[in-house]
Amino acid sequence: MATKPILVSGMQPSGRLHIGNYLGALKNFVELQDFGDYQCYFFIADLHSMTEPYEPSEKRRQIINLTADFLAAGIDPKKSVVFLQSLVPAHSELAWILNTITPMGELERMTQFKDKSARQEANVNAGLFTYPVLMAADILLYGTRVVPVGDDQLQHLELTRTVARKFNTRFGGTTFMEPKGLLTKTPRVMSLKDPSKKMSKSQPESCLFLDDEPEEIAAKIARAVTDSDTKIAYDPEKKPGLSNLLEIYAALTHLEPEAVAKEFSGATYAEFKKKLTSLVSSYFAEFRANKKKLMAKPNTLIKVLESGSKKAAKVADVKMAEVKKKVGLRA
Ligand code: AMP
Ligand code: TRP
Repeated sequence: MATKPILVSGMQPSGRLHIGNYLGALKNFVELQDFGDYQCYFFIADLHSMTEPYEPSEKRRQIINLTADFLAAGIDPKKSVVFLQSLVPAHSELAWILNTITPMGELERMTQFKDKSARQEANVNAGLFTYPVLMAADILLYGTRVVPVGDDQLQHLELTRTVARKFNTRFGGTTFMEPKGLLTKTPRVMSLKDPSKKMSKSQPESCLFLDDEPEEIAAKIARAVTDSDTKIAYDPEKKPGLSNLLEIYAALTHLEPEAVAKEFSGATYAEFKKKLTSLVSSYFAEFRANKKKLMAKPNTLIKVLESGSKKAAKVADVKMAEVKKKVGLRA
């Protein structure tokens, strides 16, 4: 049997997942896994999450929580390799080697670095700066062809391609493949409070979290910023808040946002918001139930990560041996 092309993506264990993470990434992970065209690797980027301020006593819990999110959403460890970044030492090792060929200037251009360093002025650490190099290592170790992500990660993927090319040119051969990003129809879900900004866990009040209870979902959607017009229409320029809500509705029903706007053309904003509330609540009911069950057995989740990490390490170690030879560290 021919081997399938490799797909890799990761998420940071640094808070609860919101509907932007789901519609931009996680929902796609599950669909791509079930589609069966790729060998999928999904991992918890715990090393990346250390670049932001955090409480050591909470990190383990966040890792377990994100593993439960993955599985509750439908990622199946029998079909995909589910692993923990820090359990595969090759990620850190390759990141160091790639650091030595990555130009500072490329990293200085990264908008995520600029945003995060403005947000956490008191903690602009070197890890925040070289974050995209570790991400390049995550991807390049597995001979990855595609990387499903939200659009805020595309610049990092571009850097990954640049680094892969640089390595191949400097050390000869085709050690690394250049991966492509894969976006969903909703690669950038906007904040409920300020539709000019993307939904982000750094602003919890702007997010619909996947494990929000129906009352919280209702309250947040009722308060979501729209506009002073009364006519329902899909117009991201003039009606960004309403259009964001229409996009969420559309993504969960596999419709186009224009079609959703048409369906609600005679309705008031409040009526549409009510329908959206019941859609979101019922859509994630199974997720909430699955997650509760999974969280009751944290040891099972740890075992999933340990066994997935062994599988990932087998592949990564072979690539690492090739890299060490190429750069002259091994005979
Ligand atoms: P993070 O939580 O930053 O690790 O992000 C996990 C995944 O969710 C990445 O692929 C992001 O690009 C994606 N993502 C984060 N925020 C959004 C958003 N507001 N809309 C769409 N995708 C998002
Ligand atoms: N930087 C990504 C984010 O914040 C998470 C991530 C780390 C990732 N390594 C990756 C995503 C490799 C895709 C592939 O969302």
